[in-house]
Amino acid sequence: MAGPLKVLGFLFWLFFFSFVRGQVKIQTPTLSLVPVITQKSTSVMCVIEDYYPKNLTVQWEVNDTNCLRQSNLEYELNAEGLYTAYSLCKVSSETWNTNTEYTCEATHQGKLISVRKNFKVKIQTPTLSLVPVITQKSTSVMCVIEDYYPKNLTVQWKVNDTNCSRQSKLEYKLNAEGLYTAYSLCKVSSETWNTNTEYTCEATHQGKVIRVKKNFKSKLTLTLKPPIERELFVNNKVVLEAVVSGDDLETVIEASVLCKVKNEPVTSVVGNIDFPEGTSQFIRTHYIFVDTEKWFDGEMVTCSIRDRGINQEIHFDKGDGKKPSVVIYIPDTIHTDTVSLVCEVTSPKLGDVYIFWKVGNGLYIKGSTSAPIQRDNSISVLSILTVSKQYYEDPRKTITCAIKHANMDNIGSPLQVSAMSKQPECPVDY
Ligand SMILES: *[C@@H]1O[C@H](CO)[C@@H](O)[C@H](O)[C@H]1NC(C)=O
Ligand SMILES: *[C@@H]1O[C@H](CO)[C@@H](O)[C@H](O)[C@H]1NC(C)=O
Ligand SMILES: *[C@@H]1O[C@H](CO)[C@@H](O)[C@H](O)[C@H]1NC(C)=O
Ligand SMILES: *[C@@H]1O[C@H](CO)[C@@H](O)[C@H](O)[C@H]1NC(C)=O
Ligand SMILES: *[C@@H]1O[C@H](CO)[C@@H](O)[C@H](O)[C@H]1NC(C)=O
Repeated sequence: MAGPLKVLGFLFWLFFFSFVRGQVKIQTPTLSLVPVITQKSTSVMCVIEDYYPKNLTVQWEVNDTNCLRQSNLEYELNAEGLYTAYSLCKVSSETWNTNTEYTCEATHQGKLISVRKNFKVKIQTPTLSLVPVITQKSTSVMCVIEDYYPKNLTVQWKVNDTNCSRQSKLEYKLNAEGLYTAYSLCKVSSETWNTNTEYTCEATHQGKVIRVKKNFKSKLTLTLKPPIERELFVNNKVVLEAVVSGDDLETVIEASVLCKVKNEPVTSVVGNIDFPEGTSQFIRTHYIFVDTEKWFDGEMVTCSIRDRGINQEIHFDKGDGKKPSVVIYIPDTIHTDTVSLVCEVTSPKLGDVYIFWKVGNGLYIKGSTSAPIQRDNSISVLSILTVSKQYYEDPRKTITCAIKHANMDNIGSPLQVSAMSKQPECPVDY
């Protein structure tokens, strides 16, 4: 019992003594080793942290022999009156890559404190990317071989299926984690650059082959489609589809579509990659959200694929801006199990209209809508809805044809006409 009490008493006394004297008491440092890698040199830094008093000596060991290039100590004093000292041991970049043990030993107040570390990095396979490097004077494709270890690797370029005739020597960069990034250039003529050419960069690292292919000029097409009608009628939103298609998957994935209305970018969401059967094209739809009011005002929506000079425009055609007439045609007699109704939208100069059907209190249903039909003094669009006879004859199920067109007071409430009287003897006329 006496021992611990004595120690406690001593500590208290020490604390009290230091407090009264206003001094920092002896404190032993903590040591750590960190790599310091710059473009020009590689060193290991020993950080001797938070100690007092200042005086100490440092001794380095590299694989149990003295460090040949050890720096002088640098000191720093913090607000609590504690010191931190820094010591560097410079190593050659060849040594850095080997399985070398670094030891930093500090002697402070007759006490020896040491830290030991091995910075050997584990094998890491690089990731490859191809980027164009276009200057006023030349055009090249750069292969960036990123974050790998150990340093040694070979690079082989292909332009279509032949070796690149002007391949540069590799340039290396070492990062703070001890991983390398290498750069290789393949110079191409501006004529080649402008053709549909496939570039392949192949790196062999630790017996493993890693490859990246890219075609910077593979054909891409951009198609803008009118608003998705379901979104328009159900959510009262104008969502256009900007469809990117091309024969090179990478190119389609990387195509960045930017759309603007009145020079202001609009938001978009990228869909999944699709490879429809029977085509040899990869397809990706970008969904473009356009302000409903601006759309029905006929504002131009311009979309482009960045760095490609591909531009497409779409806008809502307001026609003469007048309210169209809407008529529903129903069959005189019903002989089959299904019934087809026709909704006809007509105006002297009909612009774009969106036609949807609503059955009962259910959701909107898309019919089959015709292309505009030109008559002598008018233009019409027809939409056909087919329902079951049973459904058609149910008096509780109103069938409505809903139309969105230019100059509506409220875009949210479409112009609606219902086939209210389903008795054939009473033709509907609106
Ligand atoms: C600092 O420490 C070294 C060795 O531990 C000693 O030789 C030297 O006298 C000390 N210097 C001071 C100013 O205390
Ligand atoms: C340290 O030893 C290891 C293996 O024991 C060796 O691979 C490495 O090259 C040595 N480093 C130096 C700097 O001698
Ligand atoms: C680098 O790699 C090449 C081929 O992979 C090999 O021939 C060469 O000996 C390696 N060099 C070193 C220093 O490991
Ligand atoms: C392309 O380069 C590789 C590796 O340098 C070489 O083995 C091959 O023979 C070359 N092919 C042609 C067609 O020059
Ligand atoms: C690569 O092949 C494509 C078509 O297969 C061709 O249009 C292009 O000119 C070729 N590029 C070179 C550099 O030969």
